[in-house]
Amino acid sequence: LKIAVVFGGKSNEHDVSVVSAAHVIRSINENSDRYEVICIGITKKGHWLRYMGSTEDIENGKWTDHPDNLACIFSPDPVHRGFIQLEEDGSYSNIKVDVVFPVLHGKNGEDGTIQGIFQMAEVPFVGCDLISSACCMDKDVTHTILEAHGIKTAKWISMIYRDLAELDEKCALMEKKLGYPMYVKPANCGSSVGISKAHDLEELKAGIKAAFTHDQKVVVEQEVKGVELECAVMGNDTPFASTVGQIAAANEFYDYDAKYNNAASKTYIPAMVDEKVIEEVRDVAVRAFKAMGCGGLARVDFFLSDKGEVILNEINTLPGHTKISMYPKLMEHAGISYAEQEDRLIKLALD
Ligand code: DAL
Ligand code: MG
Repeated sequence: LKIAVVFGGKSNEHDVSVVSAAHVIRSINENSDRYEVICIGITKKGHWLRYMGSTEDIENGKWTDHPDNLACIFSPDPVHRGFIQLEEDGSYSNIKVDVVFPVLHGKNGEDGTIQGIFQMAEVPFVGCDLISSACCMDKDVTHTILEAHGIKTAKWISMIYRDLAELDEKCALMEKKLGYPMYVKPANCGSSVGISKAHDLEELKAGIKAAFTHDQKVVVEQEVKGVELECAVMGNDTPFASTVGQIAAANEFYDYDAKYNNAASKTYIPAMVDEKVIEEVRDVAVRAFKAMGCGGLARVDFFLSDKGEVILNEINTLPGHTKISMYPKLMEHAGISYAEQEDRLIKLALD
């Protein structure tokens, strides 16, 4: 089978995506008797390129300048369905692929946009579909759906851009309903970018304004004090959950810097919590996966509050997939090797 691995992307998580992609490609290549990888890179500006160089150069970012790169488009037209590359002589050729494996994080990759293109073309792809990706990306929508399913999330208030005209009233409501400190988040933004913690009114207003530079909708959440737990889910109709991992962040919260640049951030697998909590988290992770309509994979992130409550924080439909990321490590702990993980995800896409 030919697998198109799509990586990079017009997203502030581009640099994580290329590291994830290198890991995914190496893992798929362990099953080279079954799979052939076709690399499609999307630059930070949004150009799609057929890439034929080394996997190392994907990881280190040099792939964008490879002399053999060819411009590539994706067509949902039934006659020319799929990827089409522009040859050097100006002619076009279709690249036949059986499955697309999007290894893209955040905007334009994890939010349903690219999934919609593949769905329209009826090309099987790994992971969640358009609607579940979009719903999991939007924190306001996630809260609302999970609440309807009786799954506990932090208390929250959302704002759309025109609510800025009544910022004072909104902030007063937040002070009353949520209390300080609060987390201010762009509704649609991966990897903690644009998120701030507000300890007083001044920080709250500044945080909201800053978050609106990333998105048209902002979510303000009550702080949950406790430990951060993460659970990996895989499957379609009958998904299963891994054991639970724990994050011990070096910074005040597990922000972008703590995640990717700070070696002091530690992870524990399994988490250092009661077996009962692990079972509850696994159960809620699967329920949330189903409630959001997810398929293939997702990493479900939680807080275990100081009061012992399991509170769902967010669902990542294309979680970090580097060699040291929580998702592949949790699945490896469940006895599924890296190569087998990609194999299963590809099979789930064809299911
Ligand atoms: N958004 C990053 C890649 C993660 O959740 O792992
Ligand atoms: Mg997260």
